[in-house]
Amino acid sequence: MSIIELHKVNKSLTGKTILHNLSFEVKQGDIYGFLWPNGAGKTTTMKCIMGLIKPESWTIKIFGEEWLTINARKEIGFMPENTYLYKHLTGREFLEFNGRFFSFEKDELKEKVKNLLKKVGLKDAGDKLLWEYSKGMLQRIGLAQAIINEPKLLFLDEPMSGLDPIGRKMVKDLLVELNQAGTTIFFNTHILADVESICHKVSIINKGVLVVESKKIKDIDGSLEDFFIESVS
Ligand SMILES: Nc1ncnc2c1ncn2[C@@H]1O[C@H](COP(=O)(O)OP(=O)(O)OP(=O)(O)O)[C@@H](O)[C@H]1O
Ligand SMILES: [Mg+2]
Repeated sequence: MSIIELHKVNKSLTGKTILHNLSFEVKQGDIYGFLWPNGAGKTTTMKCIMGLIKPESWTIKIFGEEWLTINARKEIGFMPENTYLYKHLTGREFLEFNGRFFSFEKDELKEKVKNLLKKVGLKDAGDKLLWEYSKGMLQRIGLAQAIINEPKLLFLDEPMSGLDPIGRKMVKDLLVELNQAGTTIFFNTHILADVESICHKVSIINKGVLVVESKKIKDIDGSLEDFFIESVS
């Protein structure tokens, strides 16, 4: 079953074409990597799918329904590229604040936040203010925020950027665990090693045009790097 479907999505900004006739599908259960060069249109695509910006012409379906219904929104998690956080809150308060958008009981939410802090390696930093967090710690709390509602579909924009090797391993393990529990994951990234180790499929966008569509990683012969560089050159 297709969880995300894009058909001929076009988007211009300040008179310049940013996305040109973008069409692809993400199937249920995929860990789907969306690559590649800086400025290619990855974040714009994700924002269009999430309904944060509106394309000029589009067919976008999520969970088989026309764009973003209220029900679909409840089943989605999103970690943006630049997390805009309320830095006067502690990590724990920030997660509790985000959890209030969903219908958790008070005690249930406290327990959930405690477990999430542990899951993203911030067990001992939950009561620090976010302005005291390092870049990698902010990435971790951003990820915890994105999965607080146990989403069926998770969007992550560069989830591994700014993380140390332990942090990257933690995120990769967490994504695989979520995926095994049934979450479909769509993520933007530049990091080929991460693509190779966890993605089932990739699409590559270059200058707003899809140059590789839903390619299965296991079907790529030889070096991933060579394949990817060839596809954008
Ligand atoms: N608000 C905006 N106004 C005008 N142009 C924009 C705007 N936002 C993005 N762009 C342009 O759209 C293109 C795609 O940007 P986008 O942020 O989607 O790329 P990206 O693939 O996510 O890049 P990166 O890997 O650097 O995050 C770029 O040329 C960028 O300059
Ligand atoms: Mg981006």
